[in-house]
Amino acid sequence: MNFDMFMAGRISFGAGVSATVGEKAKALGASKVMLVTDETMVSIGTAERITSYLEEAGLSVETFSQVEPEPSVETVDLAADRLKATGCDLVVGLGGGSSMDVAKAVSVLATNEGSAGAYQGLGLVEKPGIPKITIPTTAGTGSEVTFTAVLIRKSDGVKGGINSDYLYPDCSLLDPELTLSMPKKVTTETGMDALAHALEAYTSRQASPFSDTMAEAAIARIGRYLRVAALNGNDIEARSEMMLAALFGGVALANAGVTACHSMAYPLGAVFGVGHGLSNALLLPYVVRFNAMAAPEKFARAAELLGGTNYSEGLFDRAVDCADRLDELVHDLDLPTNLRELEVGIAPENFEDMAKRAMAVARPMENNPRDITLEQVISIYEEAF
Ligand SMILES: [Fe+2]
Repeated sequence: MNFDMFMAGRISFGAGVSATVGEKAKALGASKVMLVTDETMVSIGTAERITSYLEEAGLSVETFSQVEPEPSVETVDLAADRLKATGCDLVVGLGGGSSMDVAKAVSVLATNEGSAGAYQGLGLVEKPGIPKITIPTTAGTGSEVTFTAVLIRKSDGVKGGINSDYLYPDCSLLDPELTLSMPKKVTTETGMDALAHALEAYTSRQASPFSDTMAEAAIARIGRYLRVAALNGNDIEARSEMMLAALFGGVALANAGVTACHSMAYPLGAVFGVGHGLSNALLLPYVVRFNAMAAPEKFARAAELLGGTNYSEGLFDRAVDCADRLDELVHDLDLPTNLRELEVGIAPENFEDMAKRAMAVARPMENNPRDITLEQVISIYEEAF
């Protein structure tokens, strides 16, 4: 058995821990900070709160709040130009995966020439960036602890990640109080993204004992707490457990990768504008049903962790039960259960093009526990329709 293990630098967890951002930034040598965030964080006052923590520590702050839901290469380039013009020496990413991804990309563009588009791919970033701190306000993407920034190129609508060890944050502040403001829709969709990360990493061909431990810890928490966080948003225990689950799912994903579900979700976002979490939530039960027989012990164990009580002696039976548990969860969370319900104009004639785009997201497809062909991807889309 061989495996490598990577983590973000420092992870601080706990209610109120975001108030320490100033001292954490100073410890990383900062004097002027760029806060990368979105308009929602500005309008609900969270950006101002984080700014005041930084200023109280004697740091000056430049705010960039133009991050969009599916962030683009162009937005990263704009933020990086602003960073260079203002002389910031540390980046804080505040928000969901989009803001954190942009912050991570900006930190390496501060020291690597040219446009973010030049670095989409694996291992193309040449030099370490300036220090970066991530502060998630959702519980799902895991971006706070991963080495990826997923960006869309506006010119051709293609989505691609900048993947580099230089993108690992130096510090991540996980403050469950910041997730109390999340509406139910965001809670459920990001929570299902975290579950996809954990379950896909768990059943990935790259899985290791380390990623398995993280993945199991995430799956069990999501099975127990996602419904509560969605239905009783002020329950700080449920919010804390979901934030931990997203963290563990992110660590599992960074170390074992994701599988076919994430590849198949890409075209839903890139072509039809469906959110990342929702795309994965919708496809996950269908992909698990396809995969179950190929990694039966893992899927049977996942079904149990999700609260399944199928005590049948048949291993394959218990593996398929995982898909049933996911159907149940998606139903309880009031999420759409098929592609038609999305009402974004997806039709069967799109499936071949979607499947080709999904197959092009090759690494997750290679990690998939069951060998998968273009025709099979098309038939999973058909099932999901
Ligand atoms: Fe994801």
